[in-house]
Amino acid sequence: MRVVLLGPPGAGKGTQAKLLEGQLGVPHVSTGDILRKAVSDKSPIGKKAAQYMDKGKLVPDNLILELMGKQLSRENCRDDFVLDGFPRTIPQASGLEELLKKRGLQLEHVLFIQVPLDAIIRRLAGRRTCRNCGKLYHLVFDPPSREGICDGCHNDLYQRKDDKKETIAARHDVYQAQTAPLVDYYRERGLLQEIDGQANVEEIKGRIFQALGVVGA
Ligand code: AP5
Repeated sequence: MRVVLLGPPGAGKGTQAKLLEGQLGVPHVSTGDILRKAVSDKSPIGKKAAQYMDKGKLVPDNLILELMGKQLSRENCRDDFVLDGFPRTIPQASGLEELLKKRGLQLEHVLFIQVPLDAIIRRLAGRRTCRNCGKLYHLVFDPPSREGICDGCHNDLYQRKDDKKETIAARHDVYQAQTAPLVDYYRERGLLQEIDGQANVEEIKGRIFQALGVVGA
């Protein structure tokens, strides 16, 4: 299954991609997670990316396409993947199309998760992430059993630097200017399905599984 999850920052792409991976075994590929790892490893790409990410701007297309070319050549995600956070611009979308075409493949589903800005701000401001396993929490909607500690691996939870109020607004503006045009891009190709992202996580999961035609969702 080759799926793109599209939607504004905080729409729930990562949350749903992790569920798809856990329940269907389709590898979750998140450009945000890959870039944050590169930043914390202080790799050359991480050093370049950090200056954009901290301000809520997009990392340049050439860096992202290089990174994703390598990522999607890996054995476990050559044929099946759930893409979260990629593509994010028209040049990235055509780069992905070309990459898949060379392998005789194409995307099967683009799910556009729609959530209004006020809900996005609440979701991002309350998001906490496990420093070790990456599990996502929300202070109100999905809090950990012990404050600041991951239920799964008992490591610390942290707040992403780009989840500060000023940066959330900048990321949303960038989304509107550079990523929202992908909605029409994929609609014209007959791949787009719209998902109303305003409900609890289980409900959205059901909608996504239904859109993917997964039986028993
Ligand atoms: P990235 O990490 O991709 O961030 P994003 O797209 O801004 O998306 P988020 O991870 O913030 O949100 P999400 O939709 O995954 O929501 P989540 O499930 O976590 O990118 C970060 C940065 O990296 C970018 O700004 C850019 O600089 C760079 N970058 C990444 N990819 C790039 C690319 N392709 N090109 C260029 N630059 C790139 O949920 C959010 C919160 O809400 C959580 O707390 C969760 O628990 C909660 N929640 C989820 N679902 C629900 C629900 N249904 N009800 C209530 N709460 C919910």
